[in-house]
Amino acid sequence: MSRRPLRDSDLATAFDAGAPSYDTLVDRNPGYHEHLRLSARRMGIPGDGAGLRLLDAGCGTGASTAALLSVAPRAEIVGIDAAGEMLARARAKSWPDTARFVHSRVEDLADAGVHGPFDGIFAAYLMRNLADPDGQLRALRDLLRPGATLAVHDYVAGADRATRAKWHAVCWGIVIPLAVAHRGGTGLYRHLWRSVNQFDDAPGFARRLEGAGFTEVGVETVPGWQSGIEHTFLAKNPLP
Ligand SMILES: C[S@@+](CC[C@H](N)C(=O)[O-])C[C@H]1O[C@@H](n2cnc3c(N)ncnc32)[C@H](O)[C@@H]1O
Repeated sequence: MSRRPLRDSDLATAFDAGAPSYDTLVDRNPGYHEHLRLSARRMGIPGDGAGLRLLDAGCGTGASTAALLSVAPRAEIVGIDAAGEMLARARAKSWPDTARFVHSRVEDLADAGVHGPFDGIFAAYLMRNLADPDGQLRALRDLLRPGATLAVHDYVAGADRATRAKWHAVCWGIVIPLAVAHRGGTGLYRHLWRSVNQFDDAPGFARRLEGAGFTEVGVETVPGWQSGIEHTFLAKNPLP
């Protein structure tokens, strides 16, 4: 059994396999949707989003897209994802005409016809899955208008022993058994546990954002059991 997080086509295959039970599982996670909406609110999108373009990078089944829509109901929203089965579930939901979904890796957006500039980018549970997170952060910054915000929403276990113990207990005591019960495929959820363990802590990811040229980098956690684990990272593409 691999001790490395899944990447690229192996990861897309795991998400495709997990897609049928994905929404059922995240709906059983208290605060999942509320915290996505909290991160979307923290982006500070003005008004109802009219006239703005937003990108949901790694939109999956559309939970993060719905969070964006809740804060910017009149924005044009483009959701992109590498896993066709996840995206099919997003597309099957009810959306305004201003939302559309594109099957593409974040690495291949230009080839898929997705071009900036965007007035905001939301990346929920995406960055730790990428082979080259620094390169993709720079690429996302290039897609943002000057002064616009990237929000990264994700779990961070970090080096703190208590936080790592909580993350381990939640994954192996709840998430993975639930995935077994719902035939969600444990590979994806072992990947979740492992990829969070092996990725940055919160200060490390903030430094990564700065290294990619973002400014005004900030980080806040969320309430609930996820406090200290789940975070919103906010970062701006600097003005010239
Ligand atoms: C944990 S899901 C999160 C989905 C959604 N953002 C949410 O909040 O529920 C992560 C998503 O990122 C997608 N993903 C992973 N690597 C990707 C990549 N390189 N390009 C585009 N999407 C990717 C997966 O296919 C998956 O749907």
